Amino acid sequence: MSRFDPHSWCDGDQPAQRHLDLDLTVDFTARTLEGRVRIHLTKPSSGPLDLDGRDLVIASVTNQTGAAVEWSVAESEPVRGDRLRLDLPAGTEMVEIAYQTAPGALALGWLEPQQTAGGTYPFMFSQCQPIHARTMVPCQDTPRNRVSYDAVITVPSPLRAVMSAESVGEESNGIATSWKFKMPQAIPTYLLALAVGNLEGRDLGPRTRVYAEPETVEKSAWEFAEVDSMITSAEKLFGSYEWDRFDLLVMPPAFPYGGMENPRLTFLTPTLIAGDRSNVNVVAHELAHSWTGNLVTNATMNDFWLNEGFTVYAERRILEEIYGREYADIQGVIRRNALQVNIDQFGPGSPYTKLRTDLGGTDPDEVYSLVPYEKGAQFVLLLEDAVGRDRFDEFLLKYIDHFRFQSITTDEFLAFLEKELPGVYEKIQGPRWVEEPDMPENELPIVSARVDKVRELAAGWAGGTRPEKTVTEKWSPEEWQLYLQDLPRKLSADDCQWLDETFDLSSQGNYEVLVEWLTIAAGSAYTPALPRVREVLTVVGRMKYLKPLYIALMTNEDTAKLAREVFDEVSDSYHPLSKGSVAGLLKG
Ligand code: BES
Ligand code: ZN
Repeated sequence: MSRFDPHSWCDGDQPAQRHLDLDLTVDFTARTLEGRVRIHLTKPSSGPLDLDGRDLVIASVTNQTGAAVEWSVAESEPVRGDRLRLDLPAGTEMVEIAYQTAPGALALGWLEPQQTAGGTYPFMFSQCQPIHARTMVPCQDTPRNRVSYDAVITVPSPLRAVMSAESVGEESNGIATSWKFKMPQAIPTYLLALAVGNLEGRDLGPRTRVYAEPETVEKSAWEFAEVDSMITSAEKLFGSYEWDRFDLLVMPPAFPYGGMENPRLTFLTPTLIAGDRSNVNVVAHELAHSWTGNLVTNATMNDFWLNEGFTVYAERRILEEIYGREYADIQGVIRRNALQVNIDQFGPGSPYTKLRTDLGGTDPDEVYSLVPYEKGAQFVLLLEDAVGRDRFDEFLLKYIDHFRFQSITTDEFLAFLEKELPGVYEKIQGPRWVEEPDMPENELPIVSARVDKVRELAAGWAGGTRPEKTVTEKWSPEEWQLYLQDLPRKLSADDCQWLDETFDLSSQGNYEVLVEWLTIAAGSAYTPALPRVREVLTVVGRMKYLKPLYIALMTNEDTAKLAREVFDEVSDSYHPLSKGSVAGLLKG
């Protein structure tokens, strides 16, 4: 037996899946997907096959001849879920599993019409990363094994289904529509993705289109109009785009992330739509995953930094190319600040601040942080700095080309690094970054006069320095974000009032700025802002915003009461992942 992924029951000695064939019906009333998956194996096989599953109701298992395949739930763990043990008759090339998902399936968000922009139709979407595909489809749910797939998804008319795949037609009988998909490129199962709603598309360029509800599609098209030029910049840096299309799907606000890099169709939170294109860094990030993450994939969640660290680095390179170094730098400083908050929350010496982690028995969602992102990106920057940008760009192109459509471990990466750039890992004290906790001292400082000015101003707050309106009028949303990040977490009611009234912070259209401000207001128990906090907690499911707001409310008794009250009232409408993560905060 060789189980190589602590979050999957997949056994490397057993046959591997090669292709999935899905035929599922979306039932909004029961909140289930019902139908079957055919799992095609790499070669005719017999004997045991362990699959991942969680809360699935399995009706039958057969093989390509129609012969019944014996199966059982052999084992079950809280984090890993169920081990579905199949016993394949000799010569099995394909198993067909008829099944239904559970209404509480962790991958699936089910939204009532009132949670959508239109208010008339329900909406559903999947979020399979890191280990939730198994609640949607029984499969070898480890990124080490890749699959291509075909799917037929039947939904109530007039709703539309979209997937991380090419759309190849539809058939409708007036009551239900079956949408057909084809995904020829092999992907890890965490990139399986489905969304269903009242959706409309607008072309943004020859290979990009934005999907959204009709009520938000125009605004979305304007906000993300620059995406085609981003692809052009990214291709210069990382090689040709391999996924044919880069479409965007703007979700209802309950979506738990900012963005998710589902191939061919990135999922985005509508909180990005600020009306000024100030959040396109998230699009750059998800686009960058097309190379780092989707082409070269982390083998397990212990290697997650390979996905996110390289992608943050790549994101900044794209931003630098399009908007210049200063913009990329200020983004870097903002996220470095946020990283420090995460590191402090884990505490010194925490194993979760290493790049290579050991997450056996640990739920990756519970220890999600900016460490793999920002510590990862800092490590990549050090590599770049050690060999110079030209040589590092060559290395990157070679890295991506060498491992394309493969899933690699940290060790495999380090071996490649040593071969291509000998001695560099040691020179930059690589092991301190990869194997040890906290931030090493040799991180590269970001030098930016614009950043310094804002930080100086914030540092003067306690001594009575206040920003002049003539200065802040020229601030970008990033400068505001940075300024607010640097202010004390608790302010007097007078100070809160002054800030809010002078700069109209509670009615900010940029959610990064708004939530940064509301976090201070909530932590300061500033009553006039609490209705706005409540509103955000009710409507928005993005965990990046929910978590700091709830944490801030929990820092004093009165607002902690409010936090519990709001959660009790609205948590049934949260995505199961958002609900789970906030429930954890309110307990502890
Ligand atoms: N792949 C991640 C989202 C993710 C990570 C989902 C782990 C589930 C488990 C995505 O690329 C991401 O990092 N999104 C960020 C945006 C970003 C600019 C850092 C987000 O959602 O905030
Ligand atoms: Zn990412």
